[in-house]
Amino acid sequence: MPQLVRPDMAQMASFIDALHEGYSRDTLREETPETIAAIADAPQWYLRSLHNPPTTIVLPDGTLGPRAPETHLWYVEGDEFLGSISARHSLTPVLEQWGGHIGYAVRPSAQGRGYASAMLALMLDHVREHLPLDRVTLTASLKNPASIRVIEKNGGVFRDEVDHPWVPGDRGRRYWIALC
Ligand SMILES: CC(C)(COP(=O)(O)OP(=O)(O)OC[C@H]1O[C@@H](n2cnc3c(N)ncnc32)[C@H](O)[C@@H]1OP(=O)(O)O)[C@@H](O)C(=O)NCCC(=O)NCCS
Repeated sequence: MPQLVRPDMAQMASFIDALHEGYSRDTLREETPETIAAIADAPQWYLRSLHNPPTTIVLPDGTLGPRAPETHLWYVEGDEFLGSISARHSLTPVLEQWGGHIGYAVRPSAQGRGYASAMLALMLDHVREHLPLDRVTLTASLKNPASIRVIEKNGGVFRDEVDHPWVPGDRGRRYWIALC
């Protein structure tokens, strides 16, 4: 049975396979042979960067913004990497509009098996137990019906529609999920 774990060397080879397969760490930035090689050449460094993330982030418009503290977990079965999910502990103005508290991705070869829905349910339990949040915000692009379904299956309550801050013409649905 798959479980959420802290990123670990045990699943690193499978994680790198997932990157080659088309899994991307960021919905706005696709992986390139160079970004994958940087991880494959220094996997311990990459793991350390996941466990100690930077406090700033280069935004898609090239400006430097604050990076919300987050808990980043991998969804794994044994040594196989299946996907990842992050829970931000607080929201920046950008994340309030788009991105929200929780973001997730499942590697292409593992999609359509209920993993994102299961991962989100487990992460909601984790947040309930470990973070002082009464509710979380989640957003999904109108172009991503699978993600909309994942949120609604986990009790997402529709709040409003919002414009994507960086992608002209993209709109999304914003949801709350109550935690108490
Ligand atoms: C979105 C994503 C996480 C879904 O992962 P997944 O493991 O395939 O999702 P699940 O199998 O748990 O569930 C998907 C649900 O959406 C439904 N679905 C899939 N494609 C659909 C479509 N085109 N229209 C409507 N519903 C769709 C599935 O039928 C399923 O619902 P069901 O359980 O009622 O049958 C995955 O496609 C992904 O990683 N995409 C890239 C990253 C991303 O977009 N992340 C979300 C933004 S934070």
